[in-house]
Amino acid sequence: MKLSRRMERLRPYLFVEINQKIAERKAKGEEVISFAIGDPDFPTPPHIIDRLCQAAHDPANHRYPESAGLPELCRAIAGWYQRRFNISLDPETEVLPLIGSKEGIGHIAFCLIDPGDTALVPDPAYPVYSISTMLAGGKPYYMSLKEENDFLPNLDIIRGYVLEKAKLMWINYPNNPTGAVAELDFFNRVVEFARKYDIAVCHDGPYSEVAFDDYQPVSFMQAEGAREVGVEFHSLSKSYNMTGWRIGMVVGNAKMVDALRSLKSNLDSGIPQAIQYAAIEALTGPQDCIPEHNAIYQRRRDLVIEVLNNIGLEVRAPRASLYVWAKVPEGYNSVSFTADLLEQVGVAVTPGVGYGRSGEGYVRLSLTIPDAALVKGLSRLSGWRNTRRLIAKK
Ligand SMILES: Cc1ncc(COP(=O)(O)O)c(C=O)c1O
Repeated sequence: MKLSRRMERLRPYLFVEINQKIAERKAKGEEVISFAIGDPDFPTPPHIIDRLCQAAHDPANHRYPESAGLPELCRAIAGWYQRRFNISLDPETEVLPLIGSKEGIGHIAFCLIDPGDTALVPDPAYPVYSISTMLAGGKPYYMSLKEENDFLPNLDIIRGYVLEKAKLMWINYPNNPTGAVAELDFFNRVVEFARKYDIAVCHDGPYSEVAFDDYQPVSFMQAEGAREVGVEFHSLSKSYNMTGWRIGMVVGNAKMVDALRSLKSNLDSGIPQAIQYAAIEALTGPQDCIPEHNAIYQRRRDLVIEVLNNIGLEVRAPRASLYVWAKVPEGYNSVSFTADLLEQVGVAVTPGVGYGRSGEGYVRLSLTIPDAALVKGLSRLSGWRNTRRLIAKK
């Protein structure tokens, strides 16, 4: 059997490799404390689960769902955007529920990219933007996110020959993995740039509700003219601890939304309806879980930063997202530092280079680690310097 050339080029997904390494150590009886994966450790709030259970008992929800999603869910998504960002969306033409935002992020490349086209992709970034570009036959052009530019891409340095082939641009704020945020003036510049070079914009914003110190992230859809040039992917995963239920959405440009709806209707049969009803409850019901969880993430963020600073790592406190992006100490690169932490103190973090070349020199720590494990992990990290000294003396 010969697999497609496309499969030959596909490397194991970043977290599959990391999970394998952790599993190998656990199999040897070692306890690993993992700061590696961004998966909320709190359960889905009970009122959402109650609605899910109720809907699961209704035989009407046992049959194939519509792949375009329940009209009630599209209206609930539009209502949430109105309340949260003061944006009016047409639930029929500008909203599409997804089987988790990763599904839509993966598929939209097939709506916009032909073989030979270019997609502008941030570096470092969530890996799916470049992988889906490549699967669709396109080429990613990497826009380096540098600390000195507050991890925003410098649009002015992209050359004309790249822009001629560019059909799509990915951006993501609050950002994974850097924790950086973008303000409306940056999104306005992106809209201007997209209009000038006729490039479709996909903004990925699943962390807009995870924010600290009273900061409120903005939506790309709030930029003047955003819906003429692009869409925003969003998700219930991080806001409502619903990663396991697989539900997200895309909103904005009606032509792009319609293209994705049409592609999906040929590939999938929609989101289980009981989960769609749970999502309606999440979006329209009590929102207390969001500030409650943010307060816990903020406390964890402060503890993580204190310990990292104490062992000599440079860190900027993120204003949003679930991640701390830390510079590795002198003498290490992101992979050697990650390996050292795992080996010396049994702590797993993610090497920055896994998110792209410009992630070299950094590691990412996720704040989605239960408090007891966090305390243990931080105490191990605090001992890392001493472990190094003892090894050096031997
Ligand atoms: C930047 C970014 N986009 C999208 C996703 C996918 O989220 P989901 O598919 O759970 O909606 C993630 C998940 O970690 C992410 O970090």
